[in-house]
Amino acid sequence: MLTLGIETSCDDTCVAIVDSDRNIISNCRYSQIREHKSFGGVVPEIAARSHLELLPIIFKQALQDANINDIDIVAATAGPGLIGGLITGFIFAKTISDCLGKVFYGVNHLEGHILTPRLTHCIEFPYLALLASGGHLQIVLVQNIANYHVLSSTIDDSAGESFDKVAKMLDLDYPGGPQVEKLAKLGDELRFKMPMPMCTKDELNFSFSGLKTFVRTLISKSDPALDANDICASFQKTVCDIFEYKILQAMAQNREMKRFALVGGVAANSYIRHRLQNTLQNKGIECILPNIQLCTDNAAMIAWAACDRYAHGLTHSNNTQPIARWPLHEV
Ligand SMILES: Nc1ncnc2c1ncn2[C@@H]1O[C@H](COP(=O)(O)OP(=O)(O)OP(=O)(O)O)[C@@H](O)[C@H]1O
Ligand SMILES: [Mg+2]
Repeated sequence: MLTLGIETSCDDTCVAIVDSDRNIISNCRYSQIREHKSFGGVVPEIAARSHLELLPIIFKQALQDANINDIDIVAATAGPGLIGGLITGFIFAKTISDCLGKVFYGVNHLEGHILTPRLTHCIEFPYLALLASGGHLQIVLVQNIANYHVLSSTIDDSAGESFDKVAKMLDLDYPGGPQVEKLAKLGDELRFKMPMPMCTKDELNFSFSGLKTFVRTLISKSDPALDANDICASFQKTVCDIFEYKILQAMAQNREMKRFALVGGVAANSYIRHRLQNTLQNKGIECILPNIQLCTDNAAMIAWAACDRYAHGLTHSNNTQPIARWPLHEV
């Protein structure tokens, strides 16, 4: 079974084709970073218009890369995300599926992220996932397909957002995560001791605003030209310390769970990947880290989520329409 996936929830125009044996046949992505750069963030209308212009080109590229004659399932991200982009991708995919008479799925973007380890590592349910992306930070018990128990969330910023904000404070490019990681490699992670908000016993929720404010104050008192590397290294270490603390606590509260997966854009961070892998392995917990290209937004995860749903006998509900807010517990 071949599934065509389309992802347009933010500023990446993505088209992929995945088969039911977990092979990624093609995976094309165009990042609109340049289109939005001068505005200092993603402009929703520009994103939607760019998706409209780019989708036919990226679609053609994905078909050429795959070199296939037919597809069986068509899927598009239905939410959450920027509504203009979601509508564009959804209509594009729905038109293809209606014209060709193919099965259609409107996929939840967060479900795409948390099911990625099943595509890359063929793992069975259940497992515990830390979804650390640009817009979300959640610990999720992935019990079965469409059975997701959100154990905790952030009460303010997500980890990805914090990376982006720290980068902005240091005048680094967007998205900030890769820039902070780059500078952190040259810095001393022990130079600045930073706060770990809400890291208390039995508390699984996250908070990042205190850490962000701490970094802002630190930057205002230091010389960014001299201290940026150490600030980035200390910040990245603290984010990782917080992740570690929360994951171990969540695992301790769910002792039957022996598998953990890190997903979402922040999972592309090599420092965090290595540290979590070591810590969890030492505790006898399997740590699954999807390939870096499949951590940030992509359409292979959307195609796979539809494929997995199909394999489990779930169909698309006609009530599923593009929607800006669509929390995981409502999937
Ligand atoms: N190497 C890295 N280190 C830290 N953060 C990173 C790295 N690479 C990407 N990120 C962060 O990941 C985020 C983007 O992730 P992703 O594409 O999953 O988010 P999104 O789709 O915008 O949000 P959501 O999935 O919640 O809707 C950005 O905040 C970015 O800074
Ligand atoms: Mg995402």
